[in-house]
Amino acid sequence: MAAKKIIVANWKLNPDSPKKAVALAKAIEKGIGRVQNIETVIAPPFPFLEDVGKVLRRSRLGAQDVFWEKSGAYTGEVSTPELESLDVRYVIVGHSERRKLLAENDEIVARKVKAAAASGLIPIICVGEPFEIRRTGTSSAERFVEQQLRRDLQTAAIVSKNIIIAYEPIWAIGSGMPDTAKGAAHMARWIKSVVRSVAGREPAVLYGGSVTGRNSGQFFAEPAIDGALVGGASLKAAEFAKIVKSAV
Ligand code: PGA
Repeated sequence: MAAKKIIVANWKLNPDSPKKAVALAKAIEKGIGRVQNIETVIAPPFPFLEDVGKVLRRSRLGAQDVFWEKSGAYTGEVSTPELESLDVRYVIVGHSERRKLLAENDEIVARKVKAAAASGLIPIICVGEPFEIRRTGTSSAERFVEQQLRRDLQTAAIVSKNIIIAYEPIWAIGSGMPDTAKGAAHMARWIKSVVRSVAGREPAVLYGGSVTGRNSGQFFAEPAIDGALVGGASLKAAEFAKIVKSAV
């Protein structure tokens, strides 16, 4: 289990200007104040990484994606050295929005995880089942997530000192219908046991999917849940600060 709770702000494709991004980052930092023993991570869009990085005092910088090659003819891609040159510490890999909208499959995710793990970046690998699977029962969700983990990690987990898994059931993302804390904790324990069997170690497991200031405390009260990956609520500084404070 992680020593500190890790709470990640995934801004996705928001906001629409560097000025707004910097203002939001500053407001979040101010709202969080001096909380101890919690790692907060802000993951803005690529074009704002540098500006946001300059104003962060207590939070670490995260990126929302990365490519597996370090340089070369790969139009539009961003490499691990490029991210590290901006002091990025964490990188989200395999978010379900990318899996769905950009056809990012487990083979692609595995390459990205391996590249991130071989660099100094800490990959936050997103897994989670669609509603059709969960509807048929918890054991179907377990099997689905286990398959994702086995394909996405391959050998990367073994060589990486530090990986984080985000359990994000697809039906809970942006829907206002979070998983229950008990349900998420069950899956977090399952994920830890699968990764232990693959990599010999248990990763930190975050929960993501409609986390708000109202429900976050229930997730953080579960010992198996090491933090949260927050989308919509991370765009409101006061709401995100409330989430962070509920983990203290
Ligand atoms: P949400 O998104 O908090 O808006 O549900 C979470 C995520 O996609 O990481």
